[in-house]
Amino acid sequence: MPFASIRSFIAAASIAMVSYFAFIQEAPLETAELRGKVVLVTGASTGIGEQIAYQYASHGAKIFLLARRKDVLEKVAKKCLELGAEKAIPVPSDMGRAEDYQKVVQEVARHSPAGRLDHLVLNHKAVNKLGFWKGTAGNISHLEEVFRVNFFGYVALVSALMPLLEEARGSVGIVSSVAGRTNTLYLLPYSSSKHALDGFFGGWRIELEAANSPVTITYCTLGLIDTENAVTELKSIGFKSGLEKLAASSANDTALAIVTAVTRRRRELYFPYASSRFPLLFRWWVPELFDWATSYFLQSGNKF
Ligand SMILES: *[C@@H]1O[C@H](CO)[C@@H](O)[C@H](O)[C@H]1NC(C)=O
Ligand SMILES: *[C@@H]1O[C@H](CO)[C@@H](O)[C@H](O)[C@H]1NC(C)=O
Repeated sequence: MPFASIRSFIAAASIAMVSYFAFIQEAPLETAELRGKVVLVTGASTGIGEQIAYQYASHGAKIFLLARRKDVLEKVAKKCLELGAEKAIPVPSDMGRAEDYQKVVQEVARHSPAGRLDHLVLNHKAVNKLGFWKGTAGNISHLEEVFRVNFFGYVALVSALMPLLEEARGSVGIVSSVAGRTNTLYLLPYSSSKHALDGFFGGWRIELEAANSPVTITYCTLGLIDTENAVTELKSIGFKSGLEKLAASSANDTALAIVTAVTRRRRELYFPYASSRFPLLFRWWVPELFDWATSYFLQSGNKF
């Protein structure tokens, strides 16, 4: 078989595989799996993080809520209690500041008497500036900020909380995106910080297994999700209608998929499955086509 047809054969087999897996559903989450669990969610004031908090709340977990804005976190905490959370504790903190990581550990140790943390879901991100990379001083300082929050913030917080996670045989969820596993334009700082997370946590998972650690890592690759931030970003690069026409998934369906995968200790989550899995396969098998389609789609937002 010539090389080209081997490639087409494997591409067709991949498409068949993705289509098959897209129909496999997780069994619904049971409250017994989560009641009383001690959980920490970052980026919990809005979007997917807020919805993750509500999913845990409705199953009776004790939740630490992290984000910068105290007043917004307090509102989210109040709603968590209404939904059935055993506790909801706002911990206003900035994931770009090294001082805040120890503060978070102290708060968790203080409120969780057994000194344990069952689930840690990292979802926060720096505010994106969109545009071509020009290599200016402004671009460089934005890149530094993005890496501090999106990369060092994740690694430092999991590191600081690892003793509490080991105590609880805990489960870590890392929220990433298709842009962090393929290539994109306009968003190089964000995309490269997420690629760095993939490299770091993919390797750390192997080390944890080699050291017989009871802690597991669930890596979540998300497609297009209908959050306020995502809508604003798409509009700012010329998309007329934001996400309505692009069949984006809702933040609470996404949150449910994430919480289920972290609870069941899945190695990875792709959500929505087809629109997060196909781009990775295309980039691997037909990279030229992937680059062309990405460039065409993102630069002709005004048609959508
Ligand atoms: C890089 O800097 C240029 C010039 O200031 C700006 O237009 C562009 O949006 C910046 N790109 C990013 C990704 O920050
Ligand atoms: C999910 O979000 C939609 C739209 O915001 C809302 O109508 C629905 O009630 C939410 N579902 C849950 C379980 O929170």
